Amino acid sequence: MYHIDIMTLFPDTVGDVLSESILGRAQERDILRIDTHQIRDYTLNKQKQVDDYPYGGGRGAVLQADPLYRCWDHIRGLYDKRPHTIFLSPCGKTFTQADAKRLAREYSHLILVCGHYEGIDQRFIDECVDEEISLGDFVLTGGEIAAMAVADAVCRLVPGVLSDAECFENESHWDGLLEHPQYSRPEVWHGRAVPPELLTGDHAKVERWRRKQSLLRTRERRPDLYEALDLSSKADQKLLAELERELSRPPLPQPLECRPAREDDLDAMEVILAQAKALLVPIGQWTGDYPARRDFQSDMALGACYVLTCGGRVGGFFTLSPRPEAGYDAITDGKWSSDEPYAVLHRCAVAEQWRGTGLADFMIAACGRLALERGIEWLRVDTHKKNKAMQGLIRRNGFQYRGNVRVDVPQPYDPRRVAYEKRLRQPAPDVKKALESGPSPLTSPHKMI
Ligand SMILES: C[S@@+](CC[C@H](N)C(=O)[O-])C[C@H]1O[C@@H](n2cnc3c(N)ncnc32)[C@H](O)[C@@H]1O
Repeated sequence: MYHIDIMTLFPDTVGDVLSESILGRAQERDILRIDTHQIRDYTLNKQKQVDDYPYGGGRGAVLQADPLYRCWDHIRGLYDKRPHTIFLSPCGKTFTQADAKRLAREYSHLILVCGHYEGIDQRFIDECVDEEISLGDFVLTGGEIAAMAVADAVCRLVPGVLSDAECFENESHWDGLLEHPQYSRPEVWHGRAVPPELLTGDHAKVERWRRKQSLLRTRERRPDLYEALDLSSKADQKLLAELERELSRPPLPQPLECRPAREDDLDAMEVILAQAKALLVPIGQWTGDYPARRDFQSDMALGACYVLTCGGRVGGFFTLSPRPEAGYDAITDGKWSSDEPYAVLHRCAVAEQWRGTGLADFMIAACGRLALERGIEWLRVDTHKKNKAMQGLIRRNGFQYRGNVRVDVPQPYDPRRVAYEKRLRQPAPDVKKALESGPSPLTSPHKMI
């Protein structure tokens, strides 16, 4: 059992806080024992006065050495071994997770001494205190909050207090990193979507995303910690190179929206189309005069063409067709995993200046939402086998390769395409309810990020 004794003028407050929740349950299970001691109970005067004026003058009062010593000596007498004694003080060494680990590992019994007023008599510190710990570079009224913080941080590392070591080993400061951002249900809240990597169900992908976010956060918020990290592994070097590329891009203007395309978007869409063709024509995709303005117009007439806008400007487009694709039935080298209705993602591109900013991932998420809102749970897409950028995008957004299909293209172009499929996840019940009571998403601007 790990013991902590806290010497304080406010034992009830401290005891109440430390007997709540996880630490309370650990005490009930005899993994921990936290006792508080009223310093006043160790005075020899009737008024139970524990403080007196400071020698040399000055304002305030100082906790006297004798009641402190008598209290400390009483606690020491309860144990065979002299407990490690810590005075909480703004003059101490700043507390870190490394100290919490050390105190949990090297001791099984701590005494925490809380000062008050102007502080405590130095002679008690000299005689009884093993180390002084500060909560940070600021001054509190008393040591109680600092003692509670130290006790909490140490106790949660004691084996058995948390369900398993992974609970604290993945947290900020364990290995010099800050933790990645966390998300819980619903998948979209106030128009903010959970990062798609976390929805892939692919453990390796999720871990990679988390590590990258941790590195980014630590670098931005705590350059002192970041400097001390060993990032020489191949995997970290790859992540850092990726981060470098991402950070050197201009930020994507907000808000991001997905809405049905309009006639007055066509000029901007054609500019993006030309940029995409410059990449795709050399690999044999989007050859000849396909796609063209007239394709956008016929998609628009069917209500299937959408634009992505960033800060109000068109930054990309796509077509989401709810109609089965003729060539898909003749899939070879594999098969589709379901005969259920599906939507097909066609003719999609993002503007050159927003490539790699996450706008394309936003597009895939928007497609999924639109399909689900139409009651369709499957998305299919085909692309040229040399179109690695598209395959990377869809794979990281949860699509799986299903086989090869053929598309209608004029001679002499290669009609073969690789086919991918994704099963969409129904939104959590609260999101579904909001969607059902909201305006029709197919005719109104559809905001997601
Ligand atoms: C008002 S403070 C005394 C400050 C002291 N006169 C000084 O200037 O260093 C009273 C008590 O609060 C506690 N305390 C205040 N700031 C603290 C901090 N940053 N970390 C830990 N304990 C602190 C200490 O126990 C201290 O004795």
